[in-house]
This record gives sequence, C-alpha cells and structure tokens, in this order.
Amino acid sequence: MSMNKTLKKTKMSKILEHITNKPYFVKGSFVLYNENSLEILAQLPDNSVDMVFADPPYNLSNGGFTVHAGRMVSVNKGEWDKSKGFRDDYEFHYKWLEACKRVLKPEGSLWVSGTYHSIYQCGHALQALGYHILNDISWFKPNASPNLSCRFFTASHETLIWARKDKKAKHTFNYDLMKNGLWPEDFLKKEGLQMRSVWSILTPRKSEKKFGKHPTQKPIDLLKRIVLASTKEGDVVLDPFTGSSTTGIAAAAFKRKFVGIDMEKKYLDLSIKRYNEINSLIKELNTVHPKAKTDKQVKTLANELAIKQAELFK
Ligand SMILES: C[S@@+](CC[C@H](N)C(=O)[O-])C[C@H]1O[C@@H](n2cnc3c(N)ncnc32)[C@H](O)[C@@H]1O
Repeated sequence: MSMNKTLKKTKMSKILEHITNKPYFVKGSFVLYNENSLEILAQLPDNSVDMVFADPPYNLSNGGFTVHAGRMVSVNKGEWDKSKGFRDDYEFHYKWLEACKRVLKPEGSLWVSGTYHSIYQCGHALQALGYHILNDISWFKPNASPNLSCRFFTASHETLIWARKDKKAKHTFNYDLMKNGLWPEDFLKKEGLQMRSVWSILTPRKSEKKFGKHPTQKPIDLLKRIVLASTKEGDVVLDPFTGSSTTGIAAAAFKRKFVGIDMEKKYLDLSIKRYNEINSLIKELNTVHPKAKTDKQVKTLANELAIKQAELFK
C-alpha cells in the first residue's frame, strides 16, 4: 500500500473514531449510520469533510395528490416529510446547515436540493450562516408528472444550491471535465461548451429502482455530475439525508469516501443492496484511468469516463 493511500485511510478512520454510535454498515470507505443526522453531525470533528450533498425533507407531504404511471396517488412520502410549521421547519434547516458548516473543511462545499416548499428556507439559512453561494442549479425533469388541478404550471424542476464554506478558500470545481466530458443524458449540454446552470436529467431509470423504491430517490446521473464537479478522488463526501444513498453510489463509483445518515432502516437496507451491486463494477472501473495533464488527455479521460459511466449505470 502506498504512503498516500495509508494517509487517506487514516483520514477516514480519524473522522469516524469521534462517533460513539455504531455504524449500521461499513465496507471499505462506505459507511452508513441509522440515526438522526443532527446527532451524528454533532460528533464529527471540525473541518473534516470535503463535500456535503443534502436532500433534506421537502415538507410537502400534507395530503396532496399527484400522478404516477397514469394513476392518481397521494404525495405523502412518510412522517419525515410532513411540515411542522414554517418556524420549526426553518429552525431544522438552520440547525443541520450550521452543523454541516462546522464539519466542512475551509475549502469544502455543500449542495442542497429542494423545491419551492423548502429551498427558499434553506437558501435563507445558508446566507444567514455566512455560506458563499456559488450557483443555483435548475434541474429540469423532462418527464415530470403532469399537474392534476390544471390551475397552475406543471412543476418540472428542482433547485440545487451550491455553496462554499469560506469565500476566501479555493473550492474544487472540475471545470474541464464539466466542459469537455460527454453528457449524453442532457440535451441542453452542447459538446465542448461550458456547462451551464440548467441541467436536463430524467427521473431515475427503472434499473435504479430494482432493489426497491425510495419515494424521493435522485437519479444517479444527477449525483454523478455533482460528485465529479465538486470533489477529487479520495475526498470525503457526507450525505446527512442519505435515503437510498444515490450520493454514496456515485461517490463510491468515482473513488470518493462516503458517510451517509438516515433515520429509516428500510432506506439503508436499500442503500446496502445498491452498494453491494455496484461494488464489483467499481473495482473494474477504478483500474482504468491514468492522471491526465494536458487538455487533450483531459478530453480523452472525460470521454473514457463517460463511456464507462454509461456502462455502469445503464
Ligand atoms: C429527500 S429523502 C433523500 C433521498 C436520497 N437523496 C436518495 O437519492 O435516495 C430524505 C431522507 O432523509 C431522511 N430523514 C429525514 N429527517 C432526517 C433526520 N433528521 N436525520 C436523518 N435522516 C432523516 C428520510 O428518512 C429520507 O430518507
């Protein structure tokens, strides 16, 4: 084992040794906790995490209806998604965002996703806490469900806010890969041009739900892009609302370390099945590419990655 690898391993275990709760699952650098995220966040050391992706409750499960596969279905996703009123919901978002800021490294960044039910509260809390907003991404879903009431526009996007902890520190942005990589899933991304802030990505494929469904599962294409854009190999990625661990699957696929937290065991069991399936494919994928130095090498690497990713996630 190289010196570098030994150091990185130590880095992950050094973080986890602060947590007294027993992990629900550990394999390599993929760790899951079945707890309230506030409890685990409180035990993580300061300045220890490179990137946070958070998909917190949207607080929209309040008796409404939507359409799924042509049928009218309730939007109730579970107790965890019920609103507790504006003040309590805001306080919760403030608390977990505050905890994430402490554990992020100075050059670390955080992503938070949501719809209008929650994203403005998260945005307000981010600004109140002194995060520096880098982008708000509009994730356009070309296959979003139709609107039943016909009284307003059909909701077909979610917003992702990308912010850094510290305005003065240099955050990671893999600009060349975003610009020159192949992103065939997104008809808005033109080959060789800068990646813009509107991303067209379908909701999860059937194959992404073969081990069971999470009611708000994110597509792997979305998390693949986020992980590749804002982290480096060996970085520690944290998801405090991990659900079926789409973030963890993308992190593991690209050699990042992962800590996921969720209060519901059934979602962690789903995460484990997804992780175990991809683990053998990851080993194969991770033997592939050398470090690229020139623009041409970057482009070749990006294309090679895109082909491998397509194989991995089809
Ligand atoms: C919007 S879903 C995340 C879905 C995930 N991005 C995926 O791709 O599967 C939010 C998750 O947060 C969990 N949750 C809600 N409140 C929590 C809390 N305080 N601590 C830990 N998990 C929580 C829920 O059980 C749910 O699985």
